[in-house]
Amino acid sequence: MQEKSPETAELRYGEKSLELPVLKGTAGDTALDIRSLRKLTGMVAFDPGFANTASCASRICYIDGEKGQLFYRGYPVEYLAENHEFVEVAYLLVHGQLPDPDERARFSELLNRHSLIHEDMQHFFRNYPEGAHPMAILSAMVVSLSTFYPELEASEDEEIDITVTRLLSKLRTIAAFSYKKSVGEAFVYPSYKLKYCENLLNMMFSSSVVDYQLDPVVVRTLDRVLTLHADHGQNCSTTTVRMVGSAGANLYASVAAGICALWGNLHGGANQSVIEMLERIAADGGNVERAIEAAKSGDRARRLMGFGHRVYKTYDPRARVAKKLYHDLARHLNIDDPLHEIALRLEEKALSDPYFTERGLYPNIDFYTGLIFRAMGIPREMFTVMFALGRLPGWIAHWLEQHADPEKRIARPRQLYLGPEPRPSQSSFSS
Ligand code: SDX
Repeated sequence: MQEKSPETAELRYGEKSLELPVLKGTAGDTALDIRSLRKLTGMVAFDPGFANTASCASRICYIDGEKGQLFYRGYPVEYLAENHEFVEVAYLLVHGQLPDPDERARFSELLNRHSLIHEDMQHFFRNYPEGAHPMAILSAMVVSLSTFYPELEASEDEEIDITVTRLLSKLRTIAAFSYKKSVGEAFVYPSYKLKYCENLLNMMFSSSVVDYQLDPVVVRTLDRVLTLHADHGQNCSTTTVRMVGSAGANLYASVAAGICALWGNLHGGANQSVIEMLERIAADGGNVERAIEAAKSGDRARRLMGFGHRVYKTYDPRARVAKKLYHDLARHLNIDDPLHEIALRLEEKALSDPYFTERGLYPNIDFYTGLIFRAMGIPREMFTVMFALGRLPGWIAHWLEQHADPEKRIARPRQLYLGPEPRPSQSSFSS
C-alpha cells in the first residue's frame, strides 16, 4: 500500500469542508486521495482522458515528463537498451530484478519451449482476407490462445515464468506468421538455435527460396528498439490491460484488448502514421513548412504524427535513442532514405517554432522507429505489431501487479450526465 503522508488537503464546497489525505510516491506526482469523495460530498471528480488522475499505485515504471527521463524498475531506459537484451528487460519488468545467469538460461529455455503455436491455429490465418491488418490478426490470435490452451484459464497459480515466456514466445511467432500471411508466403517455424530477435527476423524474412542472412547489427538494433517499447506506465493500452484484467478476465483476453488500444493512431499506430505523413510531405516536394503550418491549424487530422506526448513535455528519451539507432543502422546498411532527410528537417523546423515548443510538443518514440523498421525491410502494417511485441512484457507486468493486489477493485468510473431528464413512462417493472 502506498505511503500515507501526514499532509492533508482541504476541500471546501458551499458550507462543507473536507480534509482529504495526500499520498506521496517514491518519485513524481503527489496524489490527492479522493476515494471517499463521493461518500463524503456526493460529488465525483471530472477528468476526461485521466490527464490528472492516478488510476493505481505501481512499482514498475517511472517517467519524469519534465526532465525527459524513463526508468524500468529504477534503471534508466538508455542504460538497459545499451547493456541488456530485451528478454532480460522483460524478466526485469516482471520480476523487479535483472536475471542472474541461471535465471536467464531458464527463461531462454522456456522461451524456446513455448515458441510453437497449435497447428490448428494456422487455419485462422488462412481464412483472413488478403490485406487483413496484422494488428487485427494479432489481437484475435492472442485471445484464441486461451481456447487452445484451456489450462491458461486456471493458470493463475502457474509459475510466472511459464506464463510470461509462453505469451512472449507465441506472440512473436504469431507476429511472424501474420507477416507471412500478409505477403502470401509459407510460414517459417521458430528455431531453438536462434535467440529472440534472430528468430523473429528469420521467421519473417527467410523462406524456401531465400537464405536470409541474419545481420548482427540489425538484430541488435531490433532488440534495443523492443527494449525502448517494453513499458511506459499507465499509457492507454496498459490502462486497457489493467482495466480488462480488473474485471477478472484472463491475461490473454486482457492483452488482446491492449493490442486493440495500441492500434489507435494516437497511440502505437502512430509509427505507421509517421511514415505515411513523411511520404505525403515527400509527395508535396518535401515542403515541411506547409506540413507544419497545417499542423498548427488545430485540425486533428493534420497533426505532426510522432510529435507530442501526454507526459513528456520535452524530448522523449526513447526518441533520442531511436534517432541514434536509426542513424547508425542507415550508415551500416548504406541506406539513403529520402524520408530521413525530411524527418530531420521537420524536427528542426518544428523545434524552432513557438507553437510546438510552448506546448511541449517534441518527437516521441514513434517519430524515428518507423524509419528503423523501414530500413529493416519491415512493411508499415507491421510497425505497430513490433510495438506490441516490445510492449508485451510491460502489459504482463502490470496485469500481474494488479492481479496480486489484495485491494484490487473492478475499474468502474462514474460520469457527468448531460442527457435528458427522466421521461414520464408506465412500466409494470417499475416499483
Ligand atoms: C505513444 O501515453 C504514452 O505513454 C504513449 C506512448 C507509450 O509508450 O505507450 O508513449 C506511445 O502513444 C506516443 C504518442 C504517439 N502519438 C502521436 O504521435 C500522435 C500525435 N500526437 C498527438 O495527437 C498528441 O500529442 C498525443 C495524443 C500524443 C497527446 O495528446 P494530449 O496529451 O491529449 O494533448 P492534446 O491533444 O490535449 O494537445 C495539447 C495541445 C493542443 O493545442 P491547443 O488546444 O493547446 O491549441 O497540443 C496540440 C493540440 O492541438 N498538439 C499538437 C500535436 N499534439 C498535440 N499539435 C500538432 N501536432 C501534434 N502532434
